[in-house]
Amino acid sequence: MQNSILNGKTYFIRTFGCQMNLHDSERVSGLLDSLGCLEVSGPEDADIVIFMTCCVREAADTRLYGQCSSCKSLPAPPSGRRVVAVGGCIAQRDGEGLLKNLDNVDVVFGTDSIAHVGDLIADVFESGGSRVRCIEGDTGVATDMPWHRATSYHAWVPIMTGCNNFCSYCIVPYVRGREKSRSFEQIVDEVTGLVRAGVREITLLGQNVNSYGRDSFGSPRFAELLRAVGETGVERIFFTSSHPKDLLPETIDAMAEVPSVMPQLHLAVQSGSNRILKLMNRKYTREHYLDLIERVRGRIPDIALSTDIIVGFPGETEEDFEQTISLAQEARYAQAFTFIYSKRAGTPAAEMPDDTPREVILERFNRLVKVVEGTAYDFNQKDLHTKVPMLIEGTSKKDPGMLQGKSPKNQTVHAPVPAGANPAELLGRIVDVEVDTAKTWYLSGSIVGDMR
Ligand code: SAM
Ligand code: SF4
Ligand code: F3S
Repeated sequence: MQNSILNGKTYFIRTFGCQMNLHDSERVSGLLDSLGCLEVSGPEDADIVIFMTCCVREAADTRLYGQCSSCKSLPAPPSGRRVVAVGGCIAQRDGEGLLKNLDNVDVVFGTDSIAHVGDLIADVFESGGSRVRCIEGDTGVATDMPWHRATSYHAWVPIMTGCNNFCSYCIVPYVRGREKSRSFEQIVDEVTGLVRAGVREITLLGQNVNSYGRDSFGSPRFAELLRAVGETGVERIFFTSSHPKDLLPETIDAMAEVPSVMPQLHLAVQSGSNRILKLMNRKYTREHYLDLIERVRGRIPDIALSTDIIVGFPGETEEDFEQTISLAQEARYAQAFTFIYSKRAGTPAAEMPDDTPREVILERFNRLVKVVEGTAYDFNQKDLHTKVPMLIEGTSKKDPGMLQGKSPKNQTVHAPVPAGANPAELLGRIVDVEVDTAKTWYLSGSIVGDMR
């Protein structure tokens, strides 16, 4: 379906937030490509600029205002008229309200309306004015849309949208709606098609993949899905995110038994204090969490465990925080995403008394970062003088002479570009690296054996 007015127009998409948004951007990009548009690498050359926004923390929220304003000072694009569109979670949350605060925005489209973005933009080019479409109630993943993947060897595969958990600090359930699972067959067919197209690695996506299928089958079927996806022949399977309250023994079994499920698990803990976990509405205790990871380690001893932790939740005391520090030490995380609590209007936590001074929170945050850097370093040290298969993703930003890739445990790996090789031709190949250096954030070494 070529829309004449969009044919030949250039577009640029800037994406904030999580993998859900990254994948939504791939769908928007696929749709615009199918309408004859051409992607460019910066907003200055673009007739259409799209911001895919995030509101999980205040910093992400405010960044949009600066980005939109900076578009105003750009010289006119090739077609003479630049259309600015805002999608993602801020668009879904604020809808029409965005137009009041951002006078150069032409199109606002919610997370459930990405299939309409082409029509909305075309309308603005044709007749001017602004267009808003943010439907109430979720329609799930727009699976029949074209899809422009950022790389040929990796694909994000959404298995569900929305979230039912209502953690007291989190805005996501209010913007992304309730959990809605894609059909089992649709997911397996999609992965089969991706494998045929040369994809070697997939990441199954959802805010809580462990509850996949509960809405459509009455009970979670994530373990079954992992096994079925494993049968497609895809070489590397990752998934994110897992909620500790829903990680079932049969899922741990499937992770251990399906060879293509990589030994990596993102299991957000948020806090190590039972008092704070209760206030967060997380529905597990630190004892349950620690027991769970022991069970995972019992089946997959070398698992790379990663997590999310929030520092400075309302009312967090020094004692609560020390519980978080001791949990991080016990859990021996390979990687941890640490966040300072950010108040989100409309969530229960925003109404809780919050009088911890900022400098105390910052000091705690820095202490936690040191602990998780220590456990990450120790984790990587275990791979010294071993052979690690690296999936090549490009070259190091700091040194174009070094290939950069990913291990099965999601570690960054570096190795020198082989003599005479063109790194662009090696993207998506897998090769063994003999590790001679193991740092906090990466492994490096030399290539041994052939590219696969
Ligand atoms: N559904 C995923 C889970 O529970 O593992 C998390 C999705 S959320 C997009 C990613 C992380 O953002 C959360 O795990 C939490 O640590 C953090 N986060 C969410 N709301 C926050 C807030 N108000 N302030 C600070 N961090 C927050
Ligand atoms: Fe937010 Fe909790 Fe849902 Fe994750 S599980 S998206 S933290 S409400
Ligand atoms: Fe942000 Fe929306 Fe993801 S709020 S973290 S982009 S679900």
